[in-house]
Amino acid sequence: MGKLRIGLIGAGCIGTVHANSVKSIEEAELSAIVDIRLERAKALAEEHGVEKVYEDYVEMLDREQPDAVIIATPNYLHAKMTIDALNRGVHVFCEKPMAMNAGEAEKMVEARNKSGKILMLGMCQRFRNDSKAIRNVVLGGELGSVYFTKITLLRRAGIPGMGSWFTTKAFSGGGPLIDLGPHVLDLALWLQDFPRPVSAKGYTFSKLGTQNKCLGGWGIPEPGGPFDVEDLAVALIRLEGGGVMYLETSWALYTKDDTFNIILSGDKAGASLTPPCKFTEVDGKWVETGIECQEANVYLEEMKHFVECIRRNTSPGPLPEHGVIVMRLIDAIYRSASTGNEEKV
Ligand SMILES: NC(=O)c1ccc[n+]([C@@H]2O[C@H](COP(=O)([O-])OP(=O)(O)OC[C@H]3O[C@@H](n4cnc5c(N)ncnc54)[C@H](O)[C@@H]3O)[C@@H](O)[C@H]2O)c1
Repeated sequence: MGKLRIGLIGAGCIGTVHANSVKSIEEAELSAIVDIRLERAKALAEEHGVEKVYEDYVEMLDREQPDAVIIATPNYLHAKMTIDALNRGVHVFCEKPMAMNAGEAEKMVEARNKSGKILMLGMCQRFRNDSKAIRNVVLGGELGSVYFTKITLLRRAGIPGMGSWFTTKAFSGGGPLIDLGPHVLDLALWLQDFPRPVSAKGYTFSKLGTQNKCLGGWGIPEPGGPFDVEDLAVALIRLEGGGVMYLETSWALYTKDDTFNIILSGDKAGASLTPPCKFTEVDGKWVETGIECQEANVYLEEMKHFVECIRRNTSPGPLPEHGVIVMRLIDAIYRSASTGNEEKV
């Protein structure tokens, strides 16, 4: 089998990261780069010695007939580009969020089923060594039955690309809930073998972005552009089996620190992702045990996994079916924030 020929669609921030990953994988090569801002595609192509650049991804698909594509464009393009590629028999790695909503995500799974090709989502947090270690602890039964999961991904001053597609609801679908939510909701569910979310009560706030405050962190700002999304989302989620998850995620919030953690509490013990450790009470004494983990290059690891799944014809870890569940949950949280009711997932 020759090298896998991969087309990159979107030569922005994360597209650049993926181009570097593909470069480090012996069995794959970038065969073409697409961006509607052709100068970005050209600059990245030059850096990576890629000869073919395109402005139009459909033209690239039809002329280059790549084995696979990486979709690294704004959220509103994920479903359409994925379906167009799968319909042409091309394997797809699609960035998060999977789509703008669950309806689009379901259509992506239908297209995957029809094509028989691989559709993998960019759930890079699953490739952290601490994620894998905590999942082993949970699935090994050390926590007993997990009934409370606390998910925190708070940025104090991290509104990405102010005024760009990121902060424009029609292009992004929303703020931190749809941007950061897919990473941590997927991870929190995967750590405990994906119990199905049943309902959600959600709250969203848009307080600091509207004042043009707390910008930073990621993306390319477009001063003067809109900010019509939330900057904080909070949710209480009921799971099948009776457990609950509490989510807090922000791009902008007057809080003490930036925080990223998932804490799982069971009836035998608890575990925390960052730093990875487990804790319980033994003979009346609190016992906490740290877990040694090396830091991983999660973007390289996920791309190696994608390439391996194609070469071996195996299902990817981050299944699109899981992506559909996460999109249904995000839809329910937004719905609840708007109706004020607890909403079914
Ligand atoms: N997995 C992660 O950790 C992670 C991190 C950042 C971003 N993302 C996701 O990756 C996607 C891209 O984010 P980004 O930060 O790289 O954004 P970005 O704005 O830096 O890059 C997007 C690129 O897509 C191009 N583009 C727009 N429309 C296009 C079209 N029709 N055809 C071809 N190219 C087009 C833009 O010109 C731009 O260069 C988003 O969905 C985001 O949520 C994932």
